[in-house]
Amino acid sequence: MTAWLKQPGFLSPYGTLGADMSYVLAVAFTVLFLVGWRFARRRRGQAHHVVTLSAMAAMLAYFVAYYVNRGLGALAFEGEEGFGGPPELYESLFRPLLTFHILVVTIGLILAVYMIVLGFRTSVKRGEERGLVAGSPRGTALRFTGWALLASVVLPMALFGVRVLFTNPTIGKFLGWLISGVLVGLGVIAIEWVGRAIYPDGERRHRALGTFTMILYVLALLTSTATYVLLYVIWPPLIG
Ligand code: HEM
Repeated sequence: MTAWLKQPGFLSPYGTLGADMSYVLAVAFTVLFLVGWRFARRRRGQAHHVVTLSAMAAMLAYFVAYYVNRGLGALAFEGEEGFGGPPELYESLFRPLLTFHILVVTIGLILAVYMIVLGFRTSVKRGEERGLVAGSPRGTALRFTGWALLASVVLPMALFGVRVLFTNPTIGKFLGWLISGVLVGLGVIAIEWVGRAIYPDGERRHRALGTFTMILYVLALLTSTATYVLLYVIWPPLIG
């Protein structure tokens, strides 16, 4: 699989198939999020719900599948070893850019999980349309914390179980899944408590955190475009 992903790509002089596919999907997901955002701004809650939820679910599934095959941190590693430009540009531009990009993507993924659940806790369907409801989101923060902790252990274990059907289980892989799941879970729980303190009202919280999430996705696309150009368009990468 790794060898297949490292074949020459189709977008740029030095891109690999993995990098090009990843970039095309990043653009596609961001366009879908922007379409979902536009629906929300035009008060078309049900269309917003369908587009945003499908795009988020596809993005999370893709993220898990892609990074399982390439190994977590592949991008960071590729940047370290593969940047073909001048070394001073690596330190002054490329490294800060990549660090910022990884930070934005990590926070964006945790917010995606949180926002999907918040969407169901703060909206109701009235006839054909869906609207946000004022007041506290459904379920107390403590109940939310309990469910989030349970899911952060059960879901990665289920994914590890599926993975074991195709590869040999190792304690490292087991811990990798478990620790990643629990870290995402703790991130989601932290957002709930901070979000609740700042915006006790569910409708306001959904609009405010939702707008922040959408802005993060635009930043993620801008920084991944810059990273892609620096890695694969201007200079040949150092490693193939
Ligand atoms: C990552 C996921 C999501 C993000 C980033 C997001 C973002 C947003 C934003 C920014 C708004 C406010 C737009 C504005 O007034 O300026 C909004 C409104 C809304 N969202 Fe979401 N949302 C997400 C998921 C969901 C889900 C899963 C549901 C339903 C289950 C949902 C239901 C709604 C509804 C009903 C509105 C109100 C639309 C209106 O004003 O009539 N959202 N969302």
